[in-house]
Amino acid sequence: NEQAEAVFVIFGSTGDLAKRKLFPSIFNLYRKGNLTNKFAIIGLGRREWDNEKLRSVVKESIKEEHGEAVAEGSSEFLDHFSYLSFDVTDKDSYANLLDEMVLKEDEFSIPGNRIFYMAMAPEFFGSIAQSIYSSGLKETSGWTRLVIEKPFGTDLSTAKQLNEEIRKAFSEDEIYRIDHYLGKEMVQNIQVIRFANAMFAPLWNNRHIANIQVTSSEKLGVEGRGSYYEKSGALRDMVQNHMLQMVSLLAMDVPLRLTTDEIRSEKIKVLRALRPVVGETIKENVVRAQYSAGSVEQTDVPGYLQEDNVDPSSHTETYVAARLLIDNHDWAGVPFYIRTGKRMAVKSTKIVVEFKELPHNLYAKEAIKTGPNLLIIHIQPDEGITIVLNGKKIGSADTTPVHLEYRHDSEDRVNTPEAYERLLFDCMMGDATNFAHWDEVSLSWSLVDAISNAWTESDNQPVSYKAGSMGPKEADKLLEADGFSWWPVE
Ligand code: BG6
Repeated sequence: NEQAEAVFVIFGSTGDLAKRKLFPSIFNLYRKGNLTNKFAIIGLGRREWDNEKLRSVVKESIKEEHGEAVAEGSSEFLDHFSYLSFDVTDKDSYANLLDEMVLKEDEFSIPGNRIFYMAMAPEFFGSIAQSIYSSGLKETSGWTRLVIEKPFGTDLSTAKQLNEEIRKAFSEDEIYRIDHYLGKEMVQNIQVIRFANAMFAPLWNNRHIANIQVTSSEKLGVEGRGSYYEKSGALRDMVQNHMLQMVSLLAMDVPLRLTTDEIRSEKIKVLRALRPVVGETIKENVVRAQYSAGSVEQTDVPGYLQEDNVDPSSHTETYVAARLLIDNHDWAGVPFYIRTGKRMAVKSTKIVVEFKELPHNLYAKEAIKTGPNLLIIHIQPDEGITIVLNGKKIGSADTTPVHLEYRHDSEDRVNTPEAYERLLFDCMMGDATNFAHWDEVSLSWSLVDAISNAWTESDNQPVSYKAGSMGPKEADKLLEADGFSWWPVE
């Protein structure tokens, strides 16, 4: 087992992310032996909590995931947690934090490695990073790293500003920008499927692929995040990060080696080659939509405009579908269709790669026509691969689609780390491959800004789709215009 030894400082430890994702992930790393006893977690927050309170919250989150008995047996683990009431604008707070870190490093024999994790309101990210620096928290015999949650800015200019602020305190290779999709098992598998298989690697280009469809649909609505979501919408919330990350992984060229730099540089090239959607082209390439009242799994749900903290005349989109084109040698002419939305019929993230039909298909003229070959990568909720081939119907001359299915079964899943667990571990081990480099962030913001500006300039209003559906009909037309249609993801 590779093992990490570090002090882990969580800004925003009283928040939802810490409770739902970070504490259980750290516990899992500990249980699996990826953390020795040489670690400490210092939780920070505005609230007047104490060590006991933080430990009880951590224990609660362990109980939720692993049950009472495991939680009861976790006291040794909980001893590594301490809490400091913290004012991010106050110098004394940072001085206290330094004392606490030194104390913990001594208590648990930690060799001076420090991780600062920002899991709180993004407006403070920049100033906190600078205070960490100016208060001497980076002066240590070990390494220091900054983990930073989304949103990384709200457009290119705010992202740039934030980046400049944190770069005054941390170098690029000390910064770990989280995109939790990069921690998902099957997102990480995209590269293996592509680069380790003789049956895909040679076909992975515009000579053999007709189009690629990436769907990430959710059943949930805005869930009490109305005020954040109003300013963000699906474009900033999902497309700028998760969707474009998946597109980069699907379209990147074979890296020279499996190193962080080589992989990132190939992904960056894809983003550079993505054709910006500007001006009038927005209408035929991007669909912007908002859910109206409907029913999700037999439960009536309100429309977006009736949600809490949402302006009743809001134009914020809860759904985006787009045709993306990559202007390079391998991908010219192959549309990448993406779609993502809230309050849809299913929770599903899937990639469908549709191969071109054979130039001379002997079976194409028959009454029962053969279909294209498909490679389906199931990212969530189920994980696996489906390959769709054409075969012969038993006892008949007709052809029929043959589905070769592989799923990770539930037994495999028991010990499979969650996205956050994997990413935290990577950060501790100094592996930034599955984190977003600044160039990726800035390029994807440019693309998103172009779309957003084109919407504003053309006074584009979202169309409507019914909650519980798979999105508006306009999204179907996007593909129909090219002679394709969405493959089902349910
Ligand atoms: C987050 C978005 O980044 O991703 C949320 O802010 C969204 O709005 C979530 O619900 C989806 O993540 P997942 O892992 O459930 O697909």
